[in-house]
Amino acid sequence: AYVVTEPCFGCKYTDCVLVCPCDCFREGEQMLFIAPDECIDCDACRVECPVDAIFPEPEVPDEWKEFVALNREMADRCPPITDRKEPLAKGETGA
Ligand code: F3S
Repeated sequence: AYVVTEPCFGCKYTDCVLVCPCDCFREGEQMLFIAPDECIDCDACRVECPVDAIFPEPEVPDEWKEFVALNREMADRCPPITDRKEPLAKGETGA
């Protein structure tokens, strides 16, 4: 499965959700998560993210490995998101 990692935090560009063919994105308050059991590894979202927050699980950088479990945990608790939204402040300023 693909994993949303640290750069999404405080950002939420949401370009990724538009290309997901299986609607596996979930919306947390500060970032998005991918439901790992629904992700079909299509690779569409990875290139869409302007801040390169999405990785295939085996390629998640070491410092962000905790996001693998976090996506699984939070995907169960957060509502689906399938439409684009205004990014959070960090996304708007590019900071
Ligand atoms: Fe986050 Fe990138 Fe999607 S910032 S909401 S993973 S396009």
